[in-house]
Amino acid sequence: MKRLLSGLAAIAFALAAPLPAHADRTPDDLRELSRTLRVHIGSAVDATALAGEADYRRVLNQEFNHVTAENAMKWETVEPQRGAYDWEAADAVVENARRNRQQVRGHTLVWHNQLPAWLIEGVDSGAIDAKELRKILRSHIMTEVGRYRGKIRAWDVVNEVVDDTGKLRDSIWLKHLGPGYIADAFRWAHQADPRARLYINDYNLEWDAKKIETTLGIVKDLKAKRVPIHGIGFQGHLGIQYDYPGDFAGVMRRFTDLGLEAAITEADVRMVMPATAEKLATQADYYQRMLSTCVANKRCVEFTVWGFTDRHSWVPDWFEGEGAANIMDENLAHKPAYDALLAVRRK
Ligand code: G3I
Repeated sequence: MKRLLSGLAAIAFALAAPLPAHADRTPDDLRELSRTLRVHIGSAVDATALAGEADYRRVLNQEFNHVTAENAMKWETVEPQRGAYDWEAADAVVENARRNRQQVRGHTLVWHNQLPAWLIEGVDSGAIDAKELRKILRSHIMTEVGRYRGKIRAWDVVNEVVDDTGKLRDSIWLKHLGPGYIADAFRWAHQADPRARLYINDYNLEWDAKKIETTLGIVKDLKAKRVPIHGIGFQGHLGIQYDYPGDFAGVMRRFTDLGLEAAITEADVRMVMPATAEKLATQADYYQRMLSTCVANKRCVEFTVWGFTDRHSWVPDWFEGEGAANIMDENLAHKPAYDALLAVRRK
């Protein structure tokens, strides 16, 4: 009896004692994982789902401590008519984040997509000339960054400014304002919110040699000119039908060696449908490797998935026959990828 009691006492003590630092208990959820890894873990937010789906809202707020508006802060959404702003969806994302202790990535200030029709048509017809366009861009940046001053941890200031051949993208910005628009955008954003971390963000930057070299060149040039740029965003849109970008860690290091912080900003891993157990296992491995790459680099501060549920994903609309790219299924059940993320540890 005595032995039994002392055995029970030992078990009780073991349960009550704080976990030793090396304890390898699996975190309960992504928020706990984020604390363990000391990396923000975020998701893109579909503002319509946030407003209308209670289960979506509950899981988003329970799991993530960082969010990015998937579409709500883009130019066509916030200024559909010239000078007539609509902040409803963007405000809702930011307010929900405040209430749920989530930090926010602002996405995105300067892009070639999802521009309002009045802007594209005005430039095309010549009604908006280069001087006017520069004024419009400045005002857009100052207005949007200013509105959320102090509420946005990091901004994607310029998005996808290098094309697939490694040249500066031939957007309306480059065509009409010249390459200086990039430095201008960072300077204006900094003026509007001096504490926000300012990023250049792109896709395929995990592996595309031409894009990597050009983007490194842009960063070095901005730094040499003392332009306020603080971060490099790797979107992280992968597909299991392609090899995992094997030197991603090395590429990230080349950027962080320039003094930038890094983030994986839009991670998802698509597959040719239908999903099978084998494909889901490969997907889990890709997700795990992406997060591990971030965790292994001291300057990588954020890992954000581009939506957390297959219920809402851009993939099926953009890649015919592909899908299932997220870490939870349509019913918000955890996929193997979710568990693979929970298993990542700081070495
Ligand atoms: O808002 C309209 C709605 O009124 C209409 O009924 C509906 C019909 O299709 O379309 C809605 O707009 C869609 C919008 O998403 C909002 O859902 C657009 O058609 C659709 O093209 C748009 O797609 C977005 C895409 O960017 C546009 O470029 C995706 O949701 C969004 O996930 C995606 O995100 C980008 C990042 O911003 C940058 N990196 C790549 C990433 C994936 O493409």
